[in-house]
Amino acid sequence: MTKIAPSVLSSDFSQLGREIQDVDRGGADYIHVDVMDGHFVPNITIGPLIVDAVRPHTELPLDVHLMIENPDSYIPAFAEAGASIISVHQEACLHLHRTIQLIKNSGAKAGVVINPATPVDMIRESLHDVDLVLLMTVNPGFGGQSFIPQVLQKIEQVALLREKQQLRFEIEVDGGVNRDTAKLCADAGADVLVAGSAVFKQGDRKQAIQEIALAAGR
Ligand code: DX5
Ligand code: ZN
Repeated sequence: MTKIAPSVLSSDFSQLGREIQDVDRGGADYIHVDVMDGHFVPNITIGPLIVDAVRPHTELPLDVHLMIENPDSYIPAFAEAGASIISVHQEACLHLHRTIQLIKNSGAKAGVVINPATPVDMIRESLHDVDLVLLMTVNPGFGGQSFIPQVLQKIEQVALLREKQQLRFEIEVDGGVNRDTAKLCADAGADVLVAGSAVFKQGDRKQAIQEIALAAGR
């Protein structure tokens, strides 16, 4: 079953609690929370305070995507605030193994993310340590960008490595996911589809989630 993780980046931030409840009732599996620091990516969003504020509004896992430099300095605060899964960019981690252990020791599940231009080889040694591998299908920083189809090969590559090594992590994709690209990603081996504008910019979020899930073959 393909999971859908609506990204609150495209939601109405003035109504964040209600927006999250809307997609929770609409059939979302995770709530994807994009954290940007204005350094690792050219945009600034939210911090642990907001994660803490939204935590009581849903029982769904909060899937926190850290697009920040020095993630080690903030991981404990995000875990404390209620993040269920914390994903860090390989490109932002000099000592990735240590950072993954820090996430786990903080009590959250650990994810690793790579940008479209980063080869899968860069995370090969970490695959047995993580609960989630997130493959960016856009350059991180903004919602509403176009899907980069070259990443489909990387999804297949990660799915094959997982099978060969008998590992259990989930494969998530993030960026430009809509009804058309959802099927491509699911066919390539993605388990979790992040969708921002394709869910939150639609009037009927339940219908939007159902349509993406249906397209993915759920
Ligand atoms: C981009 C973020 C995404 C973003 C996706 O840097 O990581 O999660 O919200 O937005 P859409 O689905 O609109 O491409
Ligand atoms: Zn994201």
